[in-house]
Parts: sequence; C-alpha cells; structure tokens
Amino acid sequence: MTDLAELERDLTRAIAGAADERTLEELRVAALGKKGTIAELLKTLGSMSPEERKINGARFNGLRDSIADAIATRKRQLESAGLDERLQAERVDVTLPAPEIPRGTIHPVSHVRDEIIAILADLDFKVAEGPDIETDDYNFTRLNIPPEHPARQMHDTFYMKPQADGSRTLLRTHTSPVQVRTMLMQKPPIRVIAPGRTYRRDSDATHSPMFHQVEGLVIDEETHLGHLKWVLEEFCKAFFEVPQLKMRLRPSYFPFTEPSVEVDIQCDRSGGQIRFGEGKGWMEIAGSGMVHPRVLELCGIDPKRYQGYAFGFGIDRLAMLKYGIPDLRPFFESDLRWLKHYGFAALDIPALHEGLSR
Ligand code: DAH
Repeated sequence: MTDLAELERDLTRAIAGAADERTLEELRVAALGKKGTIAELLKTLGSMSPEERKINGARFNGLRDSIADAIATRKRQLESAGLDERLQAERVDVTLPAPEIPRGTIHPVSHVRDEIIAILADLDFKVAEGPDIETDDYNFTRLNIPPEHPARQMHDTFYMKPQADGSRTLLRTHTSPVQVRTMLMQKPPIRVIAPGRTYRRDSDATHSPMFHQVEGLVIDEETHLGHLKWVLEEFCKAFFEVPQLKMRLRPSYFPFTEPSVEVDIQCDRSGGQIRFGEGKGWMEIAGSGMVHPRVLELCGIDPKRYQGYAFGFGIDRLAMLKYGIPDLRPFFESDLRWLKHYGFAALDIPALHEGLSR
C-alpha cells in the first residue's frame, strides 16, 4: 500500500512549489479530481474489512483535507503575488507631468476681438451686429457712397448674382453698414461697437479675402472729435498695455465722415521689433471721423440736432501687431501647429481687472 506520509509529503512539496495558478490547478486535478490519486485511494476502501475501512477512511479523508488546505493556501499566495506584481507594474507617479492630450486653443482673432470688446465695453459701448451678406444700400448708398461713386471701386466687392429686379446683395466690405442698421433701429444717444467678418477680393501677406473689423459709432447732441481722440487713446493704451502713448489724427477722406481722419499711434521700430508708446515712428491703426450729416439724414437722424463720431479698425491687424504675428494668411489656414503656437488657453478670457493679456 502507498505510504501515505510519503504521498502527503510529495504532494505538499509539489503544491508549495507550484509556480503559477495553472500548475496548481493541474496538481489539484491530479490529486483531488475524480480520477485523482486520493479518489483512487478512497475507492480501495470498498474492498476492505470494516475494521480496516474505519482506520483507513479516517486517514484518507485526513489526507484529502490536508491537501485541499495546502492547495487553498498556495492559491491565496499566488493571487496576492499576482496583485503585488500588477501594482508594481501599473504604478503611477503622480508627480510626473500629465501626458499630452489634444487640446484646442482660442484663435488669436477671437481672443483679440474679446480684448477689444472688454476695453470698449468698459468705456460704455454696447456690441451691435449685422449680417455678412448685406444690401448694396446699407454697405454703400446710405454711407454716402452712391452708385458710380469712385469709392466703390476701392472696395473690391464680392457681389452675389443680381435678383430679378436688378438689385444685388454683396459680402459686406466693411463693418460700417452696422452703423446704418443701428441708426435705423435705435434713437440717439447711440454708443455701439460692431465687431465682425468683412470681405474683399484681395490676398497677400497682409490681406485676406475674409478679414475682421470693429466699427464704433457714437451719436448724441454734442459729441465731438476730442471725445473720439480720448476714446481711441484710452483704447490703444489699454490694448497695447502701455501707460502712455502719443496719438495723431491725420486729415483723410472717407465718404461717410466729415471731417475724416486717419489715426496714427507712436511706435518704435528699431531692433526688428515694434513697440508702442515709445520711439519716433508712427503706425496707422484706424480710420475715423465725424459722421457725415448726409449719412445721419439717410439713416433717419436729424443732422441739425445730432452729431457724433465713427471709427473702424482691423482686428486681424491689431492681433498681428500685438502678438508679433508676421503673416496674415496662416490665420485662416487651420494649421494645428500654428494654432497651438499662437492660440490662447480656453480659460484665458480677456478681462481688464486681471490685466488684459496677463
Ligand atoms: N469702413 C472703413 C474701411 O473699411 C473704415 C472706417 C473709416 C470706418 C472711417 C469708420 C470711419 O467708421 O469713420 O476702410
């Protein structure tokens, strides 16, 4: 008969040495399975005398229990070793920098538009809007640019197909038609800005067929050019984040203003960089003037009682100047590398109380 003590020793040693759960399971089947060693032993009880059966039954069952225990113990050991190994392998060092995840940025044009709105809203301007597709009347005629006026040629307009009555809509060539819409809809006093898209047939390093402007319009009974100059000066100081800045108004011509001026601000171009608020150079940044009495009249406002000023500048151009972006074309090419480089963090919302660009 098998030496039970030896069998127990061999099995226990094999179980304790099982390197993984699969080996352990094979050992379990071989020892405790239906055709396993211990089952075979138990089968021999049938041919024994009652006396022997009693003694051997107890020994065989004892062996079975002790092997089952040994297997359970080894199983727990292997499981906890497996967990330790996983914990080791999957360790996370929370002090390491977070992995790169694709992150969007705010386009410089949107960011600069928000900066402009933040500054001018602080100067009590409300935001007005108009459609990109305009009528000829609002884009030109009511701004004192009648058909055949030479200023129409300067705008390189994109026209839509003429309608049955011969009238044509167009992609607005400037944000000035929002002046018209505002005056037709609101009674003075008026104090609005209108940021938005504008379109002209033009394309090079500093011109794009679609670009952005901001229009400003103030109408009341006594606003004059001095107010305009102060507002634009305050605007430029806040926008370029400089404490002082010289500004000059140069006589110019726009059909919708009289007098018309072009606005230049002081700058220093030495050292391959442009800095505002210092130096002896000048940079043109806006067109403006007193709203032409004819425009007031064409927009339903009495020019004998009311007057005011208007101004317009390019958002893209201001973005290029402030953030040192040399070429306008990539603004609208959606190149992710460019957007990542020049874009702004989503939560970096311009606000005056936090310092405009922080
Ligand atoms: N609309 C002009 C342009 O696109 C800019 C402009 C000039 C707007 C003078 C004004 C203004 O409101 O008064 O070139």
